[in-house]
Amino acid sequence: MLMEKLVSLCKRRGFLFQSSEIYGGLNGFWDYGPLGVELKRNIKEAWWRDTVLAHDELSVPEGAPEAYQMVGLDTSIIMHPQVWKCSGHYDLFHDYMVDCRETKRRYRYDQVRGRWVEAKGQRIFVSTTAEPEEEAADTEARALKFFKLRPKDAAQLKWDPEFLSLPQVKDLSLVLGPDATTLGTLTEPREFNLMFKTTVGALGGEEDVAFLRPETAQGIFVNFKNVLDSTRVKIPFGIAQIGKSFRNEITPRYFTFRSREFEQMEIEFFCHPESSQLWYRYWRDRRLRWYVSLGLASEKLRLREHSPAELSHYSTGTADIEYAFPFLPPGEFGELEGIAHRGDFDLRSHMEGKLDEKTRPLRVELGPDGKPKWPGSGRDLTYFDEDAWERDREKLGVKSFKEYIEKRKGEEKPGWPYQYVPHVVEPSAGTDRAALAFLCEAYAEDEAPDENGVPQKRVVLRLHPRIAPIKAAVLPLVRKDGMPEIARDIYRALKPRIATFYDEKGAIGRRYRRQDEAGTPFCVTVDGQTLEDRTVTIRDRDTLKQWRVKVDDVVEEIVRRVT
Ligand code: GAP
Repeated sequence: MLMEKLVSLCKRRGFLFQSSEIYGGLNGFWDYGPLGVELKRNIKEAWWRDTVLAHDELSVPEGAPEAYQMVGLDTSIIMHPQVWKCSGHYDLFHDYMVDCRETKRRYRYDQVRGRWVEAKGQRIFVSTTAEPEEEAADTEARALKFFKLRPKDAAQLKWDPEFLSLPQVKDLSLVLGPDATTLGTLTEPREFNLMFKTTVGALGGEEDVAFLRPETAQGIFVNFKNVLDSTRVKIPFGIAQIGKSFRNEITPRYFTFRSREFEQMEIEFFCHPESSQLWYRYWRDRRLRWYVSLGLASEKLRLREHSPAELSHYSTGTADIEYAFPFLPPGEFGELEGIAHRGDFDLRSHMEGKLDEKTRPLRVELGPDGKPKWPGSGRDLTYFDEDAWERDREKLGVKSFKEYIEKRKGEEKPGWPYQYVPHVVEPSAGTDRAALAFLCEAYAEDEAPDENGVPQKRVVLRLHPRIAPIKAAVLPLVRKDGMPEIARDIYRALKPRIATFYDEKGAIGRRYRRQDEAGTPFCVTVDGQTLEDRTVTIRDRDTLKQWRVKVDDVVEEIVRRVT
C-alpha cells in the first residue's frame, strides 16, 4: 500500500518516470525527473564528499587503525573484454533461469515462489511471481482454475501453510508455472549471464564483442598501478568511483530496486594483508553510520554479517547493509550495500590470470592446454613499501632489494613484507537503492493546518536536508503590497548558495503542502509583518514550527540548517 502511494507520488511530483514511457516503457529502466535528479545528485555528492573530498588524511578517523588517503576515478563503461574474463564475470556472473514451454516466458529460478496444494486426490505446487501481498490470492485463483473448482469450493483446496521458493521443489513436473495452465511446463534451471553484450567498431564480428560493465569496481582494479604511479598515495589508501552499471536482470522488479541500468558508489580500499581485517570492520561500521546520518535511523536498517557458508571462497568477511523495504514480505530485508573483504583476488587475477574459484590457496585456472584459461595482463600489480624498506634495509645487511629477493628465492613470497599484493576491502553501494530507501523512510502522512488554521491531511517527505532536492521555498503571502519584491530578493540571495524555489501562486496552505510533498525542509514566507519590521517566518517541514527571522539573516539561517 505504502509502495503504491510512493510510486504514485514519485511520478506525480517528478521524482521517477518509467523509461521511454510514451512507447509503453522498457522493463528495468528508469528516468529520474526534475526532483529525482536532485535527490540522486545529492546522495552521490554526500557520498563523494564524505568519502573523498572532505576526508582528512592527516588524522585517524574514529574506528580506523591509522590515517589513510582517498582519491577518485571515473573509468569507462566499456572496457577490454579480457577484464571480464579475468574478473570472473564472463564465466561466473550468472543467475539461474527457468523457461516456461507453454507461455514462452522466462523467470529467475530463485524468484519464483509458491505453495503445495492438494485437491481431488492430486498434489501440485502452484507457483507465482506476484508481489508478496498478492501471492495467496494469485495461487488460490490459479489452483481453483487448475482443479476446475468454483470460488465457493475453495475449502476443497488443502494448502501447505508456508510459501517456498522454486529451488526448494525437487520435482518440476509437479509445478504449475507462474502463468501456465498445465503442469510441468518449466524447464530445468539454466545459467544466464547477466552482462549486456555490445560490439565495438564498424565490423561487428565476434572478435569485436564487448560488455557494458556490470560493476564499477573493475575499472578501479585495472587502474591500480596508474594511480600509484601518478599520485603519491601510499598504502593504506582507497580509490572511489561513482558510475553506471548494467545487468541484464531476468526479472527486474520492485520499482528501481532491481533495475537493468543503475548507479554504484564503490570504494576499493587497498591495505596491508595483516591489517585488512581491521579495515574490513572499520568500513563495515563506518558505512552503516553513513546511512544513519542521512536519516535511515529506524529499526528498518540493519547490518547483516554473512555466515561462513555464504562467503565467497576468497573472502574472509562480508556484510550487507540492508533495509526492510515496504515491498518485501514482513521480516525480509533488501541489500543497500555490500562490504566485502576480497583479499588479493582481483589484483592477482588481473596480474596472473583468472584464478580458479575452487582452489585453496587460489591458483590460476588452466585451460585444456595447461595454460591460463584467461591470461592476466602480466603487469606487476604488487605494492612496494618504500618507507618500510628504507627503515629496515641497513639492519637486513643487503645492498639492494634485488639482493634481498635473490636471497629468499624459492620462498612463496620472496618480497615479503616489503613487496606484496595488497588486500582489498570493498564497500559497494547502489545509488538507486539508497535513493529508494531514503524515499521509503521519508514518506509520511499526517495533518497540517491550512491558512485558516483548519487541520488538513498532507503527504510529507521527511528527507534529510542534505539530500532534499529543494532546500528552501520562498513564498510571498499574497501577490501585492510589495511582498513579491521582497520575496524575490530573498530568493535571489539564496539561489546561488542552495537549491531554492520561488512560488507566489495559490493559497499559502496549498503551497506549503506542495513543498512538503517535495521534501523541502524550510519555507520562508514574506507577510504583512515583513513590511513593518523586515522579518519573515521560517516554517519547519517536520515540526511545523514557525519563527521570525530578520530578512538580512535569512540566508545564513537557512544555509546553516541545510548544509
Ligand atoms: N563490486 C561489487 C558489486 O557490484 P553487488 O552486491 O553485486 O556488488 C553492489 O552490487 C550494490 O549495487 C548492491 O548492494 C546494490 O545496492 C546495487 N545493485 C546491484 N544490482 C542492482 C540492480 N540490479 N539494481 C539496482 N541496484 C543494484
